[in-house]
Amino acid sequence: MVVNSKPFCSFLLYLGLYLLSTSAMPKTNATVHYHDFVVQATPVKRLCKTHNSITVNGMYPGPTLEVNNGDTLVVSVVNRARYNVTIHWHGVRQMRTGWADGPEFVTQCPIRPGGSYTYRFTIQEQEGTLWWHAHSSWLRATVYGALIIRPKKGDSYPFAKPKRETNLLLGEWWDANPIDVVREATRTGGTPNVSDAYTINGQPGDLYNCSKKDTVIVPVDSGETNLLRVVNSALNQQLFFQVANHKLTVVAADASYVKPFTTSVLMLGPGQTTDVLITADQAPTRYYIAARAYASAQGAPFDNTTTTAILEYKSAPCPAKGVSVKPIMPILPAFNDTATATAFTSSFRSPRQVPVPTDIDENLFITAGLGLNNCPPGSRPRNCQGPNGTRFAASMNNISFQLPSTFSLLQAHQQGIRGVFTSDFPANPPLKFDYTGNVSRSIWQPIPGTKVYRLKYGATVQVVLQGTNIFTSENHPIHLHGYDFYILAEGFGNFNPRKDTAKFNLIDPPLRNTASLPVGGWTVIRFIADNPGVWLFHCHLDVHINWGLAMAFLVENGVGELETLEHPPADLPVC
Ligand code: C2O
Repeated sequence: MVVNSKPFCSFLLYLGLYLLSTSAMPKTNATVHYHDFVVQATPVKRLCKTHNSITVNGMYPGPTLEVNNGDTLVVSVVNRARYNVTIHWHGVRQMRTGWADGPEFVTQCPIRPGGSYTYRFTIQEQEGTLWWHAHSSWLRATVYGALIIRPKKGDSYPFAKPKRETNLLLGEWWDANPIDVVREATRTGGTPNVSDAYTINGQPGDLYNCSKKDTVIVPVDSGETNLLRVVNSALNQQLFFQVANHKLTVVAADASYVKPFTTSVLMLGPGQTTDVLITADQAPTRYYIAARAYASAQGAPFDNTTTTAILEYKSAPCPAKGVSVKPIMPILPAFNDTATATAFTSSFRSPRQVPVPTDIDENLFITAGLGLNNCPPGSRPRNCQGPNGTRFAASMNNISFQLPSTFSLLQAHQQGIRGVFTSDFPANPPLKFDYTGNVSRSIWQPIPGTKVYRLKYGATVQVVLQGTNIFTSENHPIHLHGYDFYILAEGFGNFNPRKDTAKFNLIDPPLRNTASLPVGGWTVIRFIADNPGVWLFHCHLDVHINWGLAMAFLVENGVGELETLEHPPADLPVC
């Protein structure tokens, strides 16, 4: 679907593109899609109560964008809300268009209330499901939507064309203003309140109060195959996902195809997408599609509710009047079923042999985990409500990431503005310790900093991500902006270079933008630094970003225009 919100402009643009394509440019059937996003407060009723939620165009979830590989998106965002906002196109590689990536204070200053900004970027060699979301405070709780990338016109899926396609966005709902929830946590230093519901396409479903009649229905005909595009858009929770009595064949993840495999359970960390084929081969009735937490941190509070939608066979016999047929419920894994989560994440392969970089220029070892800051003497107890009068923190290599506030990192880099960041993010932990063992309390306190790691254009990069057991260990969905990376291996305990390198899959590792770092374990990823700019690398649990579980890669320009970051757009917001 092409939405031409500015018909005359797009006519001129098409004309321009046509003239260009008939002269200098190679022939292309790529399309330019124009969208208007108005960020605004909208009454949304869930769980028996109405909240004035921040939405895009009054929709929750927001509009679905559908494009073909190779197409260009031009999205004009107008901010009519009372908060700063930015929009991030999660997983889009943004080749040379870092200005359109979206994370606040990283690639742009926020769009202030009343302000606007137009994001322009082209989808290059990505197919499958991505999504977009606000990248400012906790606005993404309600500001998000799907970005569907189909093959180029004339190309087809690497599997039989499904009869239908259904987007299933898993979300997280607070019976409160999510911005108040995070502000309160920042004030107290403790953990933010957990959510009150999970949602599927914005609806909690049958099992919650006042939610039954709006439960999402996914219709199917007996015998047909449907492509489900599942996105974990929740703020702070990994989720298990299941459809009662039905097998799921995974065909893609994070907009890259995978070697198909069949499973009954998916596990997605926030940020991850999984495309699955489901065939309606069961008795014609109603089946629950259900999701609930995979919560790996021992003893930590989490939202233990279950969201549902209903897979409904259209040929299901009509129930007698007044009788409702209860859908069949799947038996979901226990919230702490790490074995099931691991079996799932380690099943991914690329469809065929892939060019994994082997000569490594930059070999980084990055620890990721929590921390606790001691409260400075004289601070008030109400601001130190973390464990034993501390404040929660998190870090990578012991640096607790602080966003700048006067310039974005990308602006500061491109314009040579000093004093905004330093380039001394350490390639190794400043201190070696038994990362997943009983970590001495004396090294729980990270150091705040705005540090980037510089990469030469074209460098081959390996990152060993090592979870820590500081305060507690847990699974972290680690996301890299502007890149996809190969996941070579994952494991539990401390990474051991002498024996674990033997586990590396150098043949057909999966290509992802978000890796699930196992609880008390490690993950190894590789990529080539072929996209100049400043790219955030962070845990996609928003609570952990707030605490500083992030860093950024600064990738220098290469040689010539095609290896150089584009000029910033004229309407780039200033801080
Ligand atoms: Cu999906 Cu930094 O984001």
